[in-house]
Amino acid sequence: MLILGIESSCDETGAAIINAESKNKKVKLLSNSLASSLSLHAKTGGIIPENAAREQIKFIIPVIKEALLKAKLKPKDLDAIAVTYGPGLIGSLLIGVETAKTLSYIWSKPLIPVNHLYGHIYANFISEDSDYRVPEFPAVGLVVSGGHTDLVLMKNQNSIKWLGGTRDDAAGEAMDKIGRLLGLPYPGGPFIEKAALKGNLKKYKFPSPLINSKDYDFSFSGLKTAVYREIQTIESLDSSIISDISACVQKAVIDVLVKKTIIAFREYGAKSILLGGGVAANNSLRETFNFKLSTLNLGVKLFVPTKSLCTDNGAMIATAAFYNNSSSDFRKVEANPNLYFDTAL
Ligand code: KG4
Ligand code: ZN
Repeated sequence: MLILGIESSCDETGAAIINAESKNKKVKLLSNSLASSLSLHAKTGGIIPENAAREQIKFIIPVIKEALLKAKLKPKDLDAIAVTYGPGLIGSLLIGVETAKTLSYIWSKPLIPVNHLYGHIYANFISEDSDYRVPEFPAVGLVVSGGHTDLVLMKNQNSIKWLGGTRDDAAGEAMDKIGRLLGLPYPGGPFIEKAALKGNLKKYKFPSPLINSKDYDFSFSGLKTAVYREIQTIESLDSSIISDISACVQKAVIDVLVKKTIIAFREYGAKSILLGGGVAANNSLRETFNFKLSTLNLGVKLFVPTKSLCTDNGAMIATAAFYNNSSSDFRKVEANPNLYFDTAL
């Protein structure tokens, strides 16, 4: 089954084609095209939604054309079109959704609307090498991105239930805002990671909010305030202070993410842990998970997509469509910026 996946929920325009084999449930990536308006948002220190939507208009058709070209396919070869219909910025979402609806109509292809958050989980179901094996269930998933920090339980390949999430800022959002306080470029996450490499982990004691709470909630806005207060006491920020703060911020974020994921893993007797979202591209997060899981000897398989599949892309949307979603009359598909995970366990 050949599926074109279209992603336009925020500042990335993605189109990808997967070949999904129904018999052995293998998803192969035939092409994965991406255009990003990140450098434009770096100039304004963050995303101005209208700018992001205008960039989506520019990129959407070229990116879809490129995906077809790279996969050496024609529109008639496709079996379905999948598109992110939420959550995200309404202006950005509308570009992908309206494009996909139009293509579904003119190419006479079924349209599959996909929840973007599901996409980040299903990025782990793309076979990236020949000995790839799909995750075993139950699985616990952690979506950590610029807009979300959510823990979910997957009882089987098409059931995802929400266990908990952030009460305020998402982990990536907090790192982006702290990056700004430190004078780092946007988005702060990867720059904090880089600066942290030379930092002293013991220099500052920043809070890992809710780390001991008996639930799966997260909160990162207090961390941002703690860093702000610390910076107020510093006369001038030099690169070594920025590195030390970055290392301690990163540690505070990672400690709580890893701890709560492992508690959920134990509570639900899970066999796999699936990471997804832009923050999952962070090497220190990946290493801490690997280290903790091997010291605890839990016999769990950790799945983390390659970095380009952690951040937003069309391949994860096509894959989520294959595993979890069904086609819908294109006239009925509408962008929903407030879409969420299913909360009923
Ligand atoms: O998944 P994504 O591309 O978009 C959303 O759905 O939000 O995630 C973007 C977020 C940003 O907050 C960015 O700072 C963060 O992911 N991010 C990172 C890293 N790479 C991207 N955070 C920490 N370390 C990284 N290496
Ligand atoms: Zn995302």
